[in-house]
Amino acid sequence: MTKVLAFAASNSSISINRTLVDYAASLLDGVEVETLDIHDYEMPIYRHDREEESGIPQLAHDFLARVGEADAIIIGFAEHNGLYSAAFKNLFDWCSRVGRDVFQSKPMLLTSTSTGPGGAGRVLALAETAFPHFGGEVKAAFSLDLYDQKFDAASGKITDPDKDAELKAALAKLL
Ligand SMILES: Cc1cc2nc3c(=O)[nH]c(=O)nc-3n(C[C@H](O)[C@H](O)[C@H](O)COP(=O)(O)O)c2cc1C
Repeated sequence: MTKVLAFAASNSSISINRTLVDYAASLLDGVEVETLDIHDYEMPIYRHDREEESGIPQLAHDFLARVGEADAIIIGFAEHNGLYSAAFKNLFDWCSRVGRDVFQSKPMLLTSTSTGPGGAGRVLALAETAFPHFGGEVKAAFSLDLYDQKFDAASGKITDPDKDAELKAALAKLL
């Protein structure tokens, strides 16, 4: 069965991006969805000297193996000051030291959300631009603005019909 790896590039155990990713993954029929918490792959902050002294941590290899086992990937990006969360950036940095093929030609759906009107669109655009240089086959990107108004946390669903349709159209491009 097709295996989809879904996770939030977030620092938070109550990540709104995780709820969005979970909803997106729930809309896929006939696939096996695997989720992960990037904090299970938390490593010391990347430093050149650290890499010289100790090499690349096993956790970076473990994360890359999870990517390798997937047929497709959904990532939901928290936006911190317009950029990746530090947790994701550090994971990405270590993985990129193994090699540039971080995403291993996997089809990807990139999502983002925030409670503001920008919907974390800046970090989404960043990832959409960067990931093809790291082996990512970015099939679609979706940003949900005004999370508190357009997502119902109780049901775990988007309530805005236009946005819901947009997400479904993005998902249709993934597989
Ligand atoms: C350090 C920091 C910087 C932030 N910067 C932004 C930002 O640039 N744009 C934005 O829309 N929200 C920003 N936020 C608010 C986040 O979007 C909000 O915390 C959101 O819940 C993060 O997603 P998550 O819940 O999936 O981690 C920031 C939050 C923090 C803690």
